Amino acid sequence: MVTKRKKLYEGKAKIIYEGPEPGTVVQYFKDDATAFNAQKKDEISGKGVLTNRISAHLMTKLEAIGIPTHFLKSLNMREQLVRQVDIIPLEVVVRNIAAGSLCKRLGVKEGTYLAKPLIEFYYKDDALGDPLVSEDHVITFGWADPYELEEIVGMAWRINDYMNGFFGGLGIKLVDFKLEFGRLWGEFDELYILLADEISPDNCRLWDAKSDKKLDKDRFRQDLGEVVEGYQEIARRLGLIPEGLIGEGGQINEAIASQLEEIENDLARERKLRSVKKTPPQKPWKS
Ligand SMILES: Nc1ncnc2c1ncn2[C@@H]1O[C@H](COP(=O)(O)OP(=O)(O)O)[C@@H](O)[C@H]1O
Ligand SMILES: [Mg+2]
Repeated sequence: MVTKRKKLYEGKAKIIYEGPEPGTVVQYFKDDATAFNAQKKDEISGKGVLTNRISAHLMTKLEAIGIPTHFLKSLNMREQLVRQVDIIPLEVVVRNIAAGSLCKRLGVKEGTYLAKPLIEFYYKDDALGDPLVSEDHVITFGWADPYELEEIVGMAWRINDYMNGFFGGLGIKLVDFKLEFGRLWGEFDELYILLADEISPDNCRLWDAKSDKKLDKDRFRQDLGEVVEGYQEIARRLGLIPEGLIGEGGQINEAIASQLEEIENDLARERKLRSVKKTPPQKPWKS
C-alpha cells in the first residue's frame, strides 16, 4: 500500500510525517548517523531498525511505570506512531558516569562515577551548537516555566532510576542519556508534559558492565568500528532480536523480519492505548 504522507520535518536521525489522525505524527528512523553537530556524517545500514525498536521498547517500559510518553504504537520496522507535541527546546541530559563533553569541559576522567546523578540542560539550537544552559537561563528566556521544569526534572530522575536498574539487570552500565519533552494541551487547556523524541543508543551511553565496551553512538563518534553491532547487542539483551534475524555480514533475514511485525504488534497491544481524541477527564472510580 502506497500512501502519500506529508513530511513535516526532516532531522538528522528521523523524519516526521503527518499521522493518520489529528494530533499524531509518524516517526521514521533513518540509518543516518551524525555527530559533533553534524560535522561528522555517515550512513549505518540497519541502524534505524534498531533505534526504532529499542526506543519503542523503552518508551513502553516507561509508560508502565507511569511516565507519560508520546509513544502510541509501532507501525513497522522503521516507523512508530506518536502523539504530536510542541517540543520544549531543551536537551535534558542525565549523567551517572562521566563521559563526553562533561570530561572535556571539566577535565574529569572518563568513567568516573559521579557522586550523584547530574541533570544538565542544553538549549536545542543547531546554529548555536546546543549550548549548555542553567535552569535560570531556561526560566529567564522562557523556554520552560518553573512548574514545567519541576515536572521535567522529576520525570528525568524517575527515568534515570528505572533505566539504571533495568540496564543494570542486563549487564549494561547506563553512563548518560539525553531526553526531550513536549507539551500537549487537553480539552480544558490543561497541560501535559510528555517524554518525546527517542531513547536509543543514538542518545544514551551504554557500556558493557564487565568490559566497559561501548555499545552506543560513541563507537561512531570515536571511529571504534562495529557501530551497528553495538546497537544490535543492546537490542539482543533487551530481547528484541530473534535468533537468526541478522546474518554474518549484518544483512537482515527477510523471512524472520516479516515475523517481527507480529512482535511489534504484541508490544503495541500490551500497551494501553489512550485515545488521542480530546475527552473530558474521567473519575478513576467510574468504569
Ligand atoms: N512527538 C513529537 N512531536 C513533534 N516533534 C517531535 C516529537 N518527538 C520528537 N520530535 C522532534 O522531531 C525531530 C526528530 O528528528 P531528529 O532527526 O532527532 O531531529 P534533530 O536533527 O532536530 O535532532 C526532533 O527535532 C524532535 O525534537
Ligand atoms: Mg534528534
